[in-house]
Amino acid sequence: MKLARLAVLAALALVAPACDGEDAPVPAAEYGERLFSDARLSESQFNSFSCATCHATTPTAPAGRLDSGYTLYDSAFRKAWWGGYETRLLDAVNFCYVSFMRGVAPLPEDSPQSRALYEYLVSISPNQDARPLPMTVVKNAADVTRGDRARGQEVYRAACQSCHGEPHTGAGRLTEAASLLPEVTEEYGEIFPGVPPSLVVIEKVRHGQFFGVGGNMPPYSLEALSDADLGALLTFLDL
Ligand code: HEC
Ligand code: HEC
Repeated sequence: MKLARLAVLAALALVAPACDGEDAPVPAAEYGERLFSDARLSESQFNSFSCATCHATTPTAPAGRLDSGYTLYDSAFRKAWWGGYETRLLDAVNFCYVSFMRGVAPLPEDSPQSRALYEYLVSISPNQDARPLPMTVVKNAADVTRGDRARGQEVYRAACQSCHGEPHTGAGRLTEAASLLPEVTEEYGEIFPGVPPSLVVIEKVRHGQFFGVGGNMPPYSLEALSDADLGALLTFLDL
């Protein structure tokens, strides 16, 4: 049943529009792969993220990359996503699209973009029985034990640098909107009187834009970033 439906989708897939001025239709999975790493998937001029900003696509995440989102290898046939919060793949994708990529409205089910992204995710999902992955959200941000500075530097490079750029200068950052770390904390004393600045950073990392924090940074679950690594990162940032 599932296979029959896939065959129909695969047949439809060939009608995906050509892009970049090419004449021949591009197979949907290939079009999807391009969209996956293209921030222009979102119409918002304020977006600089693509799916690839936060998700690897290899069986295990490459060394030197600690992403907020899981690798999307084998993601297509899970029975649930986002730690069980989402039960349709398109909803899981649209949650990212709207929350992080400033998509004004969710991608409709029959849009060329959502169909192409689906075909691409299927093409990197050989296991039809892949299990849902856990996602433990830290609801109440609390202080963590500080750790090793050298490890903290590795964590910064792997988890924060792609968006925030080099510490102190922001050199190479993905977007001007990404605050300078740790300098942004200098104003926290005034904005959050009585709260240790490190706790504000912990809350930002654990909650991203959710729980009333705002912005469009993704949250890090405990699976994505351990408290031990977060503690090491804070040491590196002198927080
Ligand atoms: C700014 C970071 C960010 C961007 C950009 C982003 N995501 Fe996500 N995504 C996340 C986080 C965080 C989660 C929750 C953790 C998880 O389940 O991987 C998630 C979850 C998912 C999941 C569920 C994975 C699972 O098994 O639980 C899918 C599928 C997904 N994203 C697809 C996409 C696609 C496709 C795009 C591009 C349209 C995209 N994401 C853009 C951060 C991002
Ligand atoms: C996918 C890109 C991305 C990643 C990865 C990322 N950030 Fe951010 N971060 C942003 C953006 C964009 C902003 C500004 C908008 C906002 O506040 O959400 C931001 C804002 C912040 C702020 C400032 C909040 C404020 O306004 O005071 C802190 C602190 C922060 N990030 C810490 C981190 C740390 C630590 C890491 C690594 C564990 C990290 N970020 C990883 C994109 C990212």
